[in-house]
Amino acid sequence: MEKLVQFIAIYILTTCLVVQTKSPFRNGKEFDDKDPSDWNTLAQNQITKAIHFNQNINKAKNVIFFLGDGMGIATLTASRILKGQKQGKPGEEAYLNFETFHNTALIKTYNVDSQVPDSAGTATAFLTGVKGNIRLIGLDGGAKYGNCESISGHELSSILEWSQNAGKHTGFITTTRVTHATPAGLYANTVNRDWEASIPLNIAHREVCKDIALQLMEDIPGKNCKVIMGGGRLYFLPENVTDENSGKRGLRIDGRNLIKEWQTDKKDGIYMGDLEDFQKWNPEETKYALGLFGVDHLDYEVDRKNDSKGQPSIAQMTRKAIKMLQKGPNGFFLFIEGGKIDHAHHATNPYRALEEMLAMEKAIEVALDMTNSKDTLIIVTADHSHTMTISGYPARGNPIYGVAGTSEIDLEPYTTISYANGPGYNISDKGIRANVSGIDTGDKNYLSQTTVPLGSETHGGEDVALYAKGPWSHLFHGLQEQNYIAHAIAYASCVGNFPTACNN
Ligand SMILES: *[C@@H]1O[C@H](CO)[C@@H](O)[C@H](O)[C@H]1NC(C)=O
Ligand SMILES: *[C@@H]1O[C@H](CO)[C@@H](O)[C@H](O)[C@H]1NC(C)=O
Ligand SMILES: *[C@@H]1O[C@H](CO)[C@@H](O)[C@H](O)[C@H]1NC(C)=O
Ligand SMILES: [Zn+2]
Repeated sequence: MEKLVQFIAIYILTTCLVVQTKSPFRNGKEFDDKDPSDWNTLAQNQITKAIHFNQNINKAKNVIFFLGDGMGIATLTASRILKGQKQGKPGEEAYLNFETFHNTALIKTYNVDSQVPDSAGTATAFLTGVKGNIRLIGLDGGAKYGNCESISGHELSSILEWSQNAGKHTGFITTTRVTHATPAGLYANTVNRDWEASIPLNIAHREVCKDIALQLMEDIPGKNCKVIMGGGRLYFLPENVTDENSGKRGLRIDGRNLIKEWQTDKKDGIYMGDLEDFQKWNPEETKYALGLFGVDHLDYEVDRKNDSKGQPSIAQMTRKAIKMLQKGPNGFFLFIEGGKIDHAHHATNPYRALEEMLAMEKAIEVALDMTNSKDTLIIVTADHSHTMTISGYPARGNPIYGVAGTSEIDLEPYTTISYANGPGYNISDKGIRANVSGIDTGDKNYLSQTTVPLGSETHGGEDVALYAKGPWSHLFHGLQEQNYIAHAIAYASCVGNFPTACNN
């Protein structure tokens, strides 16, 4: 029996290797864009896959939810072209790893009171299963912005809590502050997303409001997370304490040192403040882990320092978090946010936005490697889009950061990537767009041109995509309201309102 298993394993391994090294086209020949039979074969292979696809109706023991903040569809297209071009190919034909998942859906992202949403209102939708208002978190549409008295009766619970109630081990990772809007959707109820460290003293009835860091540390479900990693140390430290690493002072006005309190409370937990701590951490021997690797948001991947005082990458954090959560006998729920795609877009800085996207793709690769789609549901989606577009008629394989053409109106060249609004507008002395000839538009710090000058580029209001693989991934189909996501995950993993839906 053992011999047979070994033989089968070797057979599968070698077959996979052959398939991987050989092109899927006749006799290992490279795909030829000008050969119609190659296009026909490519399409037929996809049809074969589609007709042999078996719906997976196993229980999703584990759920890994990847959220690319601001990862609109244009971001996906541009990143995949960049990925292909880094491999020396034209680029358009490439795929990001999750873009080959069989099941996809389009998601309507508007908030109850906003046509174009923010990360607070959208996190409320996809994590609690109910849409809420812009800039509020974990509260239904009846709560009012900045109004502490409007909280009562409007609190929502999230998929994090439902998963904990079902006995799953849970945690989250973000490249932003762990108290930022998106991760806060997992554990907080607040009328103002900015109240991360304190409620301002002039707010009426501030006694019935609780800041986001405090909710994470003190309340269910935040305090029950096995693993929490990201940035935002200053939000956990009091004003009279100086952060050792940065020399900056804490932001809390209540005098509390929440990191110290966490260490006292979680005797068998580990607190980590830098890459050295992270590398020493053995996730298999730890019950609780809190990693606050930055005073504020973590660094962009391209700016990240790899020294001992530096920060781990999103892929490194993903590997150790999965290692740790895999110990849970009833499975786990892990939320992972690539949060800085959004920040780079707000700056109209395509280089960092696309590199953040590719850094998150590496984390998805880790998750795919470490889990089995028989019992693990992986979903990848965005909270909202941005105003970046890919336009003009650049030739096939034109560098994605390059020039697409020249305007016959202002006679200036224009790049393929541009934004509808934001800080990159750069109007020259002549009152027209700056002349980009001779400028390296693929530079790390280049800001793309925009139509409307704004200090910070805004979100985009069109639908986002969702990709799913694993048990019940076929629940993700068609065009859905964003709150559907939490319900579909609950159904697939038998938590929340669906405790027995998949008892087979
Ligand atoms: C900071 O202030 C708190 C209370 O206001 C006090 O208990 C604590 O000792 C102070 N810490 C430092 C380092 O001064
Ligand atoms: C833009 O700059 C290039 C190179 O410096 C120059 O050849 C071209 O004439 C400029 N375009 C305009 C409209 O001034
Ligand atoms: C504006 O564009 C000009 C010419 O392309 C360039 O030299 C300059 O650095 C740009 N300014 C900013 C703030 O990006
Ligand atoms: Zn944003």
